[in-house]
Amino acid sequence: MTTLTDLAGWLANEPASDDVKAVVAVVAGACAEISKVVASGAILGNLGAAGQVNVQDEEQKKLDIITNDILRDALNGCPLVAGLASEELEVIETTGAVGGFLVTFDPLDGSSNIDVNVSVGTIFSILPAPAGVAPSEADFLLPGRRQVAAGYAVYGPQTMLVLTLSQGVVAFTLDADGAWLLTHGQVAISADTAEFAINMSNQRHWAEPVRGYIDGCLQGKAGPRGKNFNMRWVASMVADVHRILMRGGIFLYPWDAREPDKPGKLRLLYEANPMSLIVERAGGRSTDGVNPILDIQPTKLHQRVPVVLGSANEVALVAEMAAR
Ligand code: AHG
Ligand code: MN
Ligand code: MN
Ligand code: MN
Repeated sequence: MTTLTDLAGWLANEPASDDVKAVVAVVAGACAEISKVVASGAILGNLGAAGQVNVQDEEQKKLDIITNDILRDALNGCPLVAGLASEELEVIETTGAVGGFLVTFDPLDGSSNIDVNVSVGTIFSILPAPAGVAPSEADFLLPGRRQVAAGYAVYGPQTMLVLTLSQGVVAFTLDADGAWLLTHGQVAISADTAEFAINMSNQRHWAEPVRGYIDGCLQGKAGPRGKNFNMRWVASMVADVHRILMRGGIFLYPWDAREPDKPGKLRLLYEANPMSLIVERAGGRSTDGVNPILDIQPTKLHQRVPVVLGSANEVALVAEMAAR
């Protein structure tokens, strides 16, 4: 069997700066630790609700908090990280370091799946920190194109880590000894697909063009798309995006009328932006239904955004339908 390159071996040849690589390595180590805690589930009494509500107004799971603390501790221990922001923390936290990088993260994505043993993950984004001064919340509000690296871990049948630093997208698989081994050297999303991912139970709440686009998909060969679509919805963004990176597809979490004052469910800084950088680097597209998510100028730390991402031709069609 050929010897697979490990994370350190791959990083050695990645053009990004040594400092960016060092922060990526710290996050990768934290994700390896999280995979053990997630895998132990009920054995360590870690499943179930934590009995408190987070800033998102969501019932926190015990593992939301446990995984948040693992990442927070790892980042506080890295002198290259000046500040962090998390789905599970109302405000940013500074580490005492100055300069270097800011890290935003969703420590446990897909929390609603953790108690029923369906794949979950961790999503992270690395941004430049301001020079010479402790970061404030405003320093985190950078468009997604300013990310210096992004990635996610998916805790599924395999535990995998998907990364983009300066170019391209690669994927590692965690081995029995806790090493990340390079198993996918060039991840690329097919431009076309016949598989869509959306929570269909919200159909009556959608607006155009999402209603029209999904209707077109559901009409099969006789419809405007001329092909039979398949549907998947894991309800863990990491799992749905990972499937799309591996075999193509389109993922939609649009605005819906259930909470009309919210633009969507997914959060820009630690879900949509890191996933959009990965998807674009893999040759796909990611928009808010019309415009690239990576170009959005954030205004609030936990702001939400509608998300349409995946196979470029399908995402482009949704945007074209919006312009009609
Ligand atoms: P989180 O568990 O980090 O709060 O994120 C859950 C998100 C995302 O992972 C997924 O795509 C979406 O919520 C699923 O939403 P529904 O449960 O409304 O389908
Ligand atoms: Mn999430
Ligand atoms: Mn989460
Ligand atoms: Mn959550």
